[in-house]
Amino acid sequence: MKMKLAVLPGDGIGPEVMDAAIRVLKTVLDNYGHEAVFENALIGGAAIDEAGTPLPEETLDICRRSDAILLGAVGGPKWDHNPASLRPEKGLLGIRKEMGLFANLRPVKAYAPLLNASPLKRERVENVDLVIVRELTGGLYFGRPSERRGPDGNEVIDTLAYTREEIERIIEKAFQLAQIRRKKLASVDKANVLESSRMWREIAEETAKKYPDVEVSHMLVDSTSMQLIANPGQFDVIVTENMFGDILSDEASVITGSLGMLPSASLRSDRFGMYEPVHGSAPDIAGQGKANPLGTVLSAALMLRYSFGLEKEAAAIEKAVDDVLQDGYCTGDLQVKNGKVVSTHELTDKLIEKLNNSEARPRILQ
Ligand code: IPM
Ligand code: MN
Repeated sequence: MKMKLAVLPGDGIGPEVMDAAIRVLKTVLDNYGHEAVFENALIGGAAIDEAGTPLPEETLDICRRSDAILLGAVGGPKWDHNPASLRPEKGLLGIRKEMGLFANLRPVKAYAPLLNASPLKRERVENVDLVIVRELTGGLYFGRPSERRGPDGNEVIDTLAYTREEIERIIEKAFQLAQIRRKKLASVDKANVLESSRMWREIAEETAKKYPDVEVSHMLVDSTSMQLIANPGQFDVIVTENMFGDILSDEASVITGSLGMLPSASLRSDRFGMYEPVHGSAPDIAGQGKANPLGTVLSAALMLRYSFGLEKEAAAIEKAVDDVLQDGYCTGDLQVKNGKVVSTHELTDKLIEKLNNSEARPRILQ
């Protein structure tokens, strides 16, 4: 297979973790006889510095002529005091919206060598395998009228707006995912307070009729955040609106050890997707070789699976991650029992070694 990939490293640790993911990706593509063309583009603070805008038109052009996007992270203290339109985050929100990436999948899974790193008791974490499906292009992040302050500075507005169609398509996506997993869906809202949530719940109830084999529960977001800590093993697929999904996914990420491990896929109805780690740009450790590359590496695996249907190749990367952790190699954010903390580059070398030695490596190339 031939693929064209847009690579947007962004800010902070973004370039380091992206470098790691590309090295791993090249190894697996090579081993399985695929070809990829990588085109780099600017986003976030790096784009503000070089092109005067967080999302240059050229970046969008590169993304539009690619089959998928790999993104590192955006943001940093350098741009924290910029006006709203010149913040790095605007680039990220802009690309999600411009490319129509409405469905953000954030899988959270327990890794045996990381059970000690969880702040929760081992028995609560062992069986965790859930996916948060976060609506990504609507709600508070994009409501009109958009965020603004009243003339005297003492009044503020943020708007939570959704159309029926926007809710229908994300809920549909979540049901489809639940159907190929353990067939349990928690639809999360705040229907006791918000009108948008009441419509969300109505649509979830209507859609449920089409998927009689999926067990649906409707949960309030505050209670869900408590249940995620008390009994995370109960969840299979969680679907929720943009802001709730942002908050719940950070919470869920520490259940299994570290935010640094979590990948994500932002999808639409065709095969196009953008793949990025859930973590941010971590400016405090940028450039020091300490960053955990696994969230980005696992995002590249999701790309192979969702955008290209390359299941074996995706699984090979995921197995390499499992194996390397099992061998005790990790970065400083992961407390692997008797683990050896190595640099971003060294951990990537270990992954590549695993990929090249693995039994899963295709016969033709052995
Ligand atoms: C995320 C991030 C972003 C979000 C920020 C950086 C705008 O927190 O991807 O979860 O809020 O969506
Ligand atoms: Mn977030």
